[in-house]
Amino acid sequence: MTAQRIDGKQLAAQLRADIKSEITTHLKKGVRAPGLAVILIGHDLASQLYVKNKRLACEEVGIHSFVFNLSADITEKELLDLIHDLNQRADIDGILVQLPLPSHITTQAVIETIDPQKDVDGFHPYNLGRLAQFQPTLRPCTPYGIMMLLGTLDLTLKGKRAVVVGASNIVGKPMALELLMAKCTVTLCHSATLNLQEEIEKADILVAALGHPHVIRSEWIKPGAVVIDVGMNRIDGVLKGDIAYETAAQRAAWITPVPGGVGPMTVAMLLKNTLSAWRRG
Ligand code: GUN
Repeated sequence: MTAQRIDGKQLAAQLRADIKSEITTHLKKGVRAPGLAVILIGHDLASQLYVKNKRLACEEVGIHSFVFNLSADITEKELLDLIHDLNQRADIDGILVQLPLPSHITTQAVIETIDPQKDVDGFHPYNLGRLAQFQPTLRPCTPYGIMMLLGTLDLTLKGKRAVVVGASNIVGKPMALELLMAKCTVTLCHSATLNLQEEIEKADILVAALGHPHVIRSEWIKPGAVVIDVGMNRIDGVLKGDIAYETAAQRAAWITPVPGGVGPMTVAMLLKNTLSAWRRG
């Protein structure tokens, strides 16, 4: 078997075109453009690249981006004060603080300070709680994008065994909730999982979000499975997923490439969330 490639780059481009079209229609009527504030702290190269991609995507669709490049020694109070200001601003619909943060800043305090209605990352306990109750509001971008990709496949999710590897607040936990909402039987694996191979071998849908290559072996993949690779590992300057694409594609029915799979969808869903927040505002 050779898997079909799930083209996230193409679907993301289509979504951006739809978003651009909606914004253009509204702008012609004199409505103000959607606004997204992106806060980047320090000089992490990967974070700088992600923020640049987000800014360019905003520009493409007509979202006004306000990028705040802050020094790594900003105090927590200064950052929270900035977020309070942005919460109040009528020209800003969405607020995103790029993670990870410097260790002297409490990530949870930052997440909880963002107005849930402007939380386009979907990380605020209100938005995650709504997802847990299957009443989603703003949904975390990467899992939301993966659900959109799964929706393009000729596949019924209901009743499937889904295994998510990696239990982060950003990807793994909300991914498990999304799959549960789609009526999959969900297993969420993490660093203390006793027998990862045994869990993965049962997966009709496998979502790899470990952030490490070479842990999941292609031989563990169930023949005919859907493989979603969230990994973004830079190895000798080359971007690689958590899964060895070529060998995994010999067993899977569908598989996402890295790059060009999940990554572009994360950015597209950020735009979609910003649009939702703007419509409400
Ligand atoms: N760092 C890695 N992924 C993300 C994301 O989706 N949102 C934010 N804010 N930071 C991240």
